[in-house]
Amino acid sequence: PTTREFWWDLEAVGGAPDGYSRLVYAVNGQYPGPLIEANEGDTIIVHVTNHLDVGQGIHWHGITQNGSPWMDGVPGVSQCVIAPNGGTFTYNFTVSNQYGSYWWHAHYSNTLADGLVGGLIIHSPNDPLKLGQDFDEERVLYVSDWVDVTSEAVVDALLTLGTFDGSVVPPQGDAILINGVGRTNCTYSELRHKSTCCDPDYPVIEVPSSKRIRFRVINTGAHAVYGISIDNHALEVVEVDDTAVWGPTIHEIRISPGQRYSFIVNTDQGKDGAEFWLRAQAVVKGLAVFRYSGGISWGEPSTRAWPDLEADSIPCVDMDVNYTLTPRDAKDAPSKALQTQVLSSERGNFVSVNGVPFGGQGFNNISFQNQINYPLLEQVEDGHAIDGKLVANVAFTEIGGGDIIINNLDNVIAHPFHLHGGTFWILGRGTGNITAKEAGKLKLNTHNPLRRDTLQMNLGEWALLRIVTDNPGVWPLHCHIGWHLSEGKLAAIVVQPDAVKGLYKPPAWSGTGRPDILPCRFEQ
Ligand code: C2O
Repeated sequence: PTTREFWWDLEAVGGAPDGYSRLVYAVNGQYPGPLIEANEGDTIIVHVTNHLDVGQGIHWHGITQNGSPWMDGVPGVSQCVIAPNGGTFTYNFTVSNQYGSYWWHAHYSNTLADGLVGGLIIHSPNDPLKLGQDFDEERVLYVSDWVDVTSEAVVDALLTLGTFDGSVVPPQGDAILINGVGRTNCTYSELRHKSTCCDPDYPVIEVPSSKRIRFRVINTGAHAVYGISIDNHALEVVEVDDTAVWGPTIHEIRISPGQRYSFIVNTDQGKDGAEFWLRAQAVVKGLAVFRYSGGISWGEPSTRAWPDLEADSIPCVDMDVNYTLTPRDAKDAPSKALQTQVLSSERGNFVSVNGVPFGGQGFNNISFQNQINYPLLEQVEDGHAIDGKLVANVAFTEIGGGDIIINNLDNVIAHPFHLHGGTFWILGRGTGNITAKEAGKLKLNTHNPLRRDTLQMNLGEWALLRIVTDNPGVWPLHCHIGWHLSEGKLAAIVVQPDAVKGLYKPPAWSGTGRPDILPCRFEQ
């Protein structure tokens, strides 16, 4: 195992990812931010300096942080914010017993929508998907919605008015970016926001011909669900989040915020220099040029989308509902759950303890209110009970199998729910809602069911997720529509609260707002 050490400066820079000029949050000047690649067993150390004027925290999406819950990167849950204007924090964690496609992103409010995102790929000899055998080369493909105003402007509107641009549904993006580049409607954006705008060139994804290329697609966006397709090329689905699968070969994959899919394409549809459109379609559409290297470029491809695409598309439904996806590295779920916890996901106008309306999204009728100065992990480590009026929270005290039932009662919007601290097996899902008692009577298949860390749930659906409660910590379960997270759709899953006490080691801290004594003394 190796130690991989990085130094990251978070800064606001001028940018125009979709052609329209605005401030972009970048790491070392880059958007998307740096790609981290490591091997299973490696230790990753990232020294972060936050030059932004807002607090920050960087989350390593899909990394279980077993034994290092304080490195999970969620301000107000696992750490104090990295103070603005020069605060520093060092993330230090070892990646064990996992490999596959992950990513990292800002976890403070919805500032990931301002640009703080990047890939995190863990290679391993244990990975059933082998370079040189299953595929010849690999690429990371970032898809994201992009809004021509800052996340702060959107969140402020949602929290004060309950709407943005007159809609309770948060924005799905002025443009879709592929690898950080897209095209907004300049005429409209200039009128509305009064800044300069011009169409950037389409991003080009260059691959050799006559090869099998693995794409690791990451939806780094804040809301939209995309259909990803490449004209003339079939996509063989081989990975779902970080689970290698035997999947279908299809024309389009659907990916929700937070999720990852890997697919393999054969570049056998033309000679060197051949060009095809790669499409990311949601309410808005994104395009990139998929190009076989060599040859001459003739400008924009003239290829057409697969004829059945739009007809086939079932927005907001997870791929795993429509296809059989069998994990290649079989892992059975625990045959029974020692404890079952139920969370219902609602929308409404929840009222905080001090009587102020807050948030339009919640769990168990509670909108998450971030206690930024006293992270939940510290509260539990101090032996306090988490205030159930400020955040819906449930505890798993037994070690073994545990069930989380999510009843998505929201009848307006589908939600991609993400669990920190480990993957879950999807043991059941259906329409309506379900009680723990009813779930207890279900016949469940625990032999190698699909496991992942981000599940798209449609309106009025329930899901039964089984976890192993072997990772002490306070783990957020939240909607990965970043706007909904800002509106309060986050619950805290407390795993082995007693063990958390022995585990907590306050991380080194420096810079403005350094909390000399815990809890955080940082002033917002
Ligand atoms: Cu990628 Cu808490 O999320």
